[in-house]
Amino acid sequence: MKKERVGIVGVGAYLPEKILTNYDLEKMVETSDEWIITRTGIKERRIASDQDAASDLGARAAEVALKDAGLTPEAIELLICATITPDMLFPSTACFIQRKIKAKNAVCFDISAACTGYIYALNIAEHFLKNGTYRNALVVGTEKLSAITDWKDRSTCVLFGDGAGAVVLKKVKQGGIISTYLGSDGEQADLLKIPAGGSRMPASLSTVEARLHFLKMEGTELFKHAVRLMAEAAEKALAQAGLTCKDVAYLIPHQANIRILQAVAKKIGLPMEKIYLNIEKYGNMSSASTAVALYETVKFKKIKKGDIIVLVAFGSGLTWGATVIEWAQ
Ligand code: UT7
Repeated sequence: MKKERVGIVGVGAYLPEKILTNYDLEKMVETSDEWIITRTGIKERRIASDQDAASDLGARAAEVALKDAGLTPEAIELLICATITPDMLFPSTACFIQRKIKAKNAVCFDISAACTGYIYALNIAEHFLKNGTYRNALVVGTEKLSAITDWKDRSTCVLFGDGAGAVVLKKVKQGGIISTYLGSDGEQADLLKIPAGGSRMPASLSTVEARLHFLKMEGTELFKHAVRLMAEAAEKALAQAGLTCKDVAYLIPHQANIRILQAVAKKIGLPMEKIYLNIEKYGNMSSASTAVALYETVKFKKIKKGDIIVLVAFGSGLTWGATVIEWAQ
């Protein structure tokens, strides 16, 4: 008997209206549109309003995904939120989203795996659905990175943006998730972090004055790991599925830097036309990047029923992962 797979049955996204362009950044720090475009591929990014936190963006994306799936909020049994910009350290952003969308029957928790969070969360949801614990799941990747960005640090503030993406998952008769490969390397944990505000360095006047509540990144070092590990994740997930790059209709990656994606494409032998790019419009949205990219490939009709797609991400932790899906919508 054919084994039932878990598939994506609804997609959603939310991008804040406010656009911050490279030209706007030229007025804030010593940078240029030319440097940002050539070094990263980013032209503009979205910035959430002061009133909105990660759960507000996530709830809006979730509502779109639920509508797309034709499910009521009450029907949702599992709600996982991937974020590194939670509304608060606790309770979980997933619980705030639950309250906002009135998904009162869902079990809710967050997952912290930085830019790979969405792929980790998909994999966790897939296991819960496969083993029959829950019948459906809502997975949200949401970030308000503007809240943890040091707007005086030109080496990071040009890179990030705000946004959210969401999917609804269920067991499906055709297509679905074929394989997932995940990895982590805590040895490299210091390459991208927020030093203060946790139990290691609680918030104090001196941590605020030292700007230790903003993200700190060793970009050049991360770049090398990103190329190697995104390529490895995509290849390993495909191998687990018994497939190769030749079978792939679209690679839908985390969007940190266009040069990373060009290097990954070269490494795995995939033409750039098969890599979905939206970094130009949104920058790096951490766990929301891959989620929003998937939403756009569906909404812009880039993928069709039966296509093999690969979601791939890399981020702080380090964490990395890839998921191979036969598109069934
Ligand atoms: O989301 C997952 C985790 N994150 C990543 O995967 C990010 C990976 N890293 C990167 O994308 C790139 O390393 C960056 C875009 C962050 C930086 O690019 P780079 O080619 O590695 O540049 P760099 O940091 O080596 O800096 C090159 C030069 C430096 O000047 P000097 O020392 O050569 O004189 C920087 O000071 O560019 C300078 N620079 C800038 N200049 C203008 C750094 N940021 C800026 C800026 N505008 N915004």
